[in-house]
Amino acid sequence: MENVRLFVIPMAAALALSLVTPAASAIAAPVPSAKKVDCKKAKCVALTMDDGPVAGTAQVLDTLKKYDVPATFFVVGKNAAARPKLLARMVREGHEVGSHSWDHAQLTKLSRAAMLKNLKRADKAIRKGTGKRVKLLRPPYGSNDANVKSVEKSMGYRQVLWTVDPLDWKYRNTKTVVRNVLKATRRNSIILTHDIHATTRAAYPKIIKSLKKKGYTFVTVSQLLRTR
Ligand code: NI
Repeated sequence: MENVRLFVIPMAAALALSLVTPAASAIAAPVPSAKKVDCKKAKCVALTMDDGPVAGTAQVLDTLKKYDVPATFFVVGKNAAARPKLLARMVREGHEVGSHSWDHAQLTKLSRAAMLKNLKRADKAIRKGTGKRVKLLRPPYGSNDANVKSVEKSMGYRQVLWTVDPLDWKYRNTKTVVRNVLKATRRNSIILTHDIHATTRAAYPKIIKSLKKKGYTFVTVSQLLRTR
């Protein structure tokens, strides 16, 4: 919807706009190649980053750009509210952004009303940064019950958990994180990581290079769920 609106701006105005705002220049930016990936044919994998964005997330985006791979960020709403420019950059560079609640709350401990309030607050902050509707939710701690599922449904979210967990929050050691990811990753894996840890941020180049070497194609979570 955002694109449609931007396209009706007269050419001259759009050109002027592109000189001053990074958002407008995104129109001309190359669309990530992963858009065309068919995971029925390709050996797909989705790399996901939780709990940010933090200042170091810029470094993660640099890494993803360097290796030309898309990822999915499950951001904490209040962090998103603090760093909207990083969210805009994520979208501009072909990544997907999902919700991880406003404040990393354990949703199963909240009443339905409190849960809705929490998720709506996160939703607003994320939309402000990305300019897009939020489609995915990863409940903090994977904490889940019928109430969470019902609220997710009412918000129009799809719940995304993971299939590979290197326990990077526990093992603050880059080599261990790389090893754990490589050991467990299979076709169509959804890899859980946390870009808030420097040790994990340092692991991404090695993870990406190794998985590419093994023939994996990186896709966003939505791409994976849509085509596998
Ligand atoms: Ni988390």
